[in-house]
Amino acid sequence: MLSQVFSVANQKGGTGKTTLSMNLAVGLSKRGRTLIIDADPQGSAGQWAGLSPDENPFPVSVISITSNLPREIKRIGEDYQYLVVDCPPTLETGVAQKAMTVSDKVLIPILPSPVDLWASVRLAEAIEQVKIYNDELQPYILVNQLEPRSAISRGMRQALEEFDIPALDSCLRRRAVYRNSALEGSSVYCMGKRGEPASQEVDALIEEILKS
Ligand SMILES: Nc1ncnc2c1ncn2[C@@H]1O[C@H](COP(=O)(O)OP(=O)(O)O)[C@@H](O)[C@H]1O
Ligand SMILES: [Mg+2]
Repeated sequence: MLSQVFSVANQKGGTGKTTLSMNLAVGLSKRGRTLIIDADPQGSAGQWAGLSPDENPFPVSVISITSNLPREIKRIGEDYQYLVVDCPPTLETGVAQKAMTVSDKVLIPILPSPVDLWASVRLAEAIEQVKIYNDELQPYILVNQLEPRSAISRGMRQALEEFDIPALDSCLRRRAVYRNSALEGSSVYCMGKRGEPASQEVDALIEEILKS
């Protein structure tokens, strides 16, 4: 089987990489066998899944891999339709770059301010370098933690238009259920009615990335 590999990267911490990785993976797992690769030595994805109660385990397996990523991803990928790689918040170790050399797409969550977008310039440069080895890599900016019920500000929209990497139409809003699902080792798909608006926006994101 030829798997699709989605890296989630940003050299800044706290932009939503792990939150996106976990929820994206659960959404993808409804369409095909999915695995999460925790490439962050801090191990947050593994810790998140570890919080699940034994009687209700996290629905997607997480394995921690930080070395030999390209080889390991190719080997493990044969058994899965979708791989989601939660990358570390740094470019210094080369781990994120290695993940991207074997990825179909890299999703870059950013907070909805131009400053946060500009902070990704170094990542955009790193992606250009990776494209020398993987010219099919498709990078996308994903605006995360957008204020509930408000649109992207004009300044932010303009900054996105001028940025080298295209932004997805889909955004994730700032919602308590993303935080709460993490505290329970769960995902927004498993939070009943309060998780619905969030799981719908993750589904919309999945639709968009699978067809782009
Ligand atoms: N859309 C969102 N709505 C509300 N809280 C969010 C959202 N995305 C992320 N968070 C919270 O922001 C913090 C940082 O997110 P995290 O996924 O750990 O970022 P990273 O992996 O990039 O360091 C966490 O407390 C997380 O629960
Ligand atoms: Mg993280």
